[in-house]
Amino acid sequence: MMNSHNQQLSLLCLSLALLLLSGLRVEARLQHHATSYQKLFVFGDSYVDTGNTRIDQPGSWKNPYGITFPGKPAGRFSDGRVLTDYIAKFLGLKSPLPYKFRKFIAQNLKYGMNFAYGGTGVFDTSSKNPNMTIQIDFFKQLIKENVYTASDLSNSVALVSVAGNDYNFYLARNGSIQGFPSFIASVVNQTAINLLRIQSLGVKKIVVDGLQPLGCLPGNTASLSFQKCNSTFNDLVLLHNNLLNQAVTKLNQQTKNQTTFIVLDLYDSFLSVLNNPSNNNIKDAFKPCCVGISSQYSCGSVDENNVKKYKVCDHPKSAFFWDLLHPSQAGWLAVYNELQTSKALQQIRY
Ligand SMILES: *[C@@H]1O[C@H](CO)[C@@H](O)[C@H](O)[C@H]1NC(C)=O
Ligand SMILES: *[C@@H]1O[C@H](CO)[C@@H](O)[C@H](O)[C@H]1NC(C)=O
Ligand SMILES: *[C@@H]1O[C@H](CO)[C@@H](O)[C@H](O)[C@H]1NC(C)=O
Ligand SMILES: *[C@@H]1O[C@H](CO)[C@@H](O)[C@H](O)[C@H]1NC(C)=O
Ligand SMILES: *[C@@H]1O[C@H](CO)[C@@H](O)[C@H](O)[C@H]1NC(C)=O
Repeated sequence: MMNSHNQQLSLLCLSLALLLLSGLRVEARLQHHATSYQKLFVFGDSYVDTGNTRIDQPGSWKNPYGITFPGKPAGRFSDGRVLTDYIAKFLGLKSPLPYKFRKFIAQNLKYGMNFAYGGTGVFDTSSKNPNMTIQIDFFKQLIKENVYTASDLSNSVALVSVAGNDYNFYLARNGSIQGFPSFIASVVNQTAINLLRIQSLGVKKIVVDGLQPLGCLPGNTASLSFQKCNSTFNDLVLLHNNLLNQAVTKLNQQTKNQTTFIVLDLYDSFLSVLNNPSNNNIKDAFKPCCVGISSQYSCGSVDENNVKKYKVCDHPKSAFFWDLLHPSQAGWLAVYNELQTSKALQQIRY
């Protein structure tokens, strides 16, 4: 019973459907090009940990951590987001699942995985958490179990944040800075070994943080009334970063440009923000937002009666540092904004 009017109508429908379909195909191809072939694998310490550190350890899973995002403690050493979250965003990915949760939230494996644990270094630190060697062992095991395929790996990015704890631990144990330069050389050497291991597992783009200015962290500026950085300490950090840059240049030559190793310069980006805080709506540059009420307590401490022994500033969103060691979410966002203008971050994108 088809008259010509109906025929015309159905032709129109058909061509509309075809148009829609081809449109969808174009869109699918664009999406594929933009994001679908990337994952982020993260290794290192509390600057990038998003939940691996155990609940019974200080910080991260305790109040008032997480008050800005997601609104309660959720395993980040900050009031909110950390570097990992911003790098994932830059890549157009969701922040990768912490390794600890891999058995529970299987569908989220597709964004990669976060193997970082607070307090860790390339060598063993006082932390009970797995050092970077062990974190890479976890990664290797998942590859062996075919959780990630070779093509997943070759289209993914690794982010590495280490060494701050190695140096804090060294100073806490050895007190003096004599012998520090040779220790720095061994930390950088071990870091390079770790980066090569990640590469040998098949990751083609490996980003390592240039060390943040440790001499500016509130724990090291308290004796300077949170007014300025400890330049003796920062000079040692510069030595680390120099050696790291050399090591990374060598790795790029050694792997004949089949892999790109990239240094993400946290040193300069931290200093840019700290020196011009108002550019980033930061009011308190050096003073941490959350501190213990006295030196025996820290951010998140409670006494035996669960009475809190810390203070939180009125405006976490205008403080650069959250606690004695870690930037706030506002701090990380400001650093990320600085990094976005750097060549290194552009190199990460495929
Ligand atoms: C990493 O940790 C393991 C287990 O504690 C230890 O055997 C290994 O020596 C550590 N690696 C380095 C480089 O310190
Ligand atoms: C700490 O100092 C002692 C000697 O004072 C030295 O034997 C040791 O190797 C140092 N530790 C590190 C990690 O370099
Ligand atoms: C680390 O140091 C050892 C001994 O000095 C050296 O043989 C090795 O090549 C170094 N590794 C890297 C990756 O630089
Ligand atoms: C600066 O840091 C170095 C290395 O940790 C330390 O020895 C020195 O006492 C610090 N200076 C001040 C003024 O805190
Ligand atoms: C690797 O890349 C650098 C800079 O992009 C270039 O100067 C060098 O010649 C390349 N090396 C090889 C072996 O392709």
